[in-house]
Amino acid sequence: MTMPNFVIAPSILSADFTRLGAEITTCEQGGADWIHVDIMDGHFVPNMTIGPLVVEACRRATRLPLDVHLMIEQPERYLEAFAAAGSNRLTVHVETCPHLHRTLQQIQALGLKAGVTLNPGTPAIMLKEILPLVDLVLVMTVNPGFGAQAFLPETLAKVNEIRQMLAAIHSPAWLEIDGGVSEKTLPALLAAGANAFVAGNAVFKHPDGPAAGIAVLKQILAGRDL
Ligand code: DX5
Ligand code: ZN
Repeated sequence: MTMPNFVIAPSILSADFTRLGAEITTCEQGGADWIHVDIMDGHFVPNMTIGPLVVEACRRATRLPLDVHLMIEQPERYLEAFAAAGSNRLTVHVETCPHLHRTLQQIQALGLKAGVTLNPGTPAIMLKEILPLVDLVLVMTVNPGFGAQAFLPETLAKVNEIRQMLAAIHSPAWLEIDGGVSEKTLPALLAAGANAFVAGNAVFKHPDGPAAGIAVLKQILAGRDL
């Protein structure tokens, strides 16, 4: 299987959880590249969602990579559980990891891709020392905790800045965006250098269903994926 140049990762946060398996299947058949899974603890973010049990159910529903975003305090306590549940990528927040370097190494030692993410209020410079280590940088373009929030345009400059930081060290890491991705915001995000896109509302709340939502975003990527 060849690696795509650009990735769409539907966030199941906006899915119908009474039929989660079917929603994931629809995404897979609709051309999704990864499935994004949002883990929230009610402490680091004001919302609570799911844990390893549901990740394990997602694992049984799809062969797509599970892109797991840990919005939890002390994520190092749960890395093994999320790995055992079948995650492929684990992304932790700079703001929750006093020993970020070690936490990223722990993720990679479990055989997973390691991602790092930062809130809209956290500057790109916080990534500088660990950038050579990471497989993915996730830029939060909303404040984490909820789906369907408005994209924060002031985060675009940071996307651009991180693209330049990655280029300077010749890093092949993905530059992923999370929050308010839509057909309206995608072109500017592409221009800023992002190449992986989480989309909750734009996929699952599309009036013609998730496959149509993915198709709209993929069409915008198609011009670039040459
Ligand atoms: C927000 C989550 C996102 C969320 C994005 O805290 O990390 O993954 O599902 O949802 P949309 O695409 O609706 O902004
Ligand atoms: Zn997320």
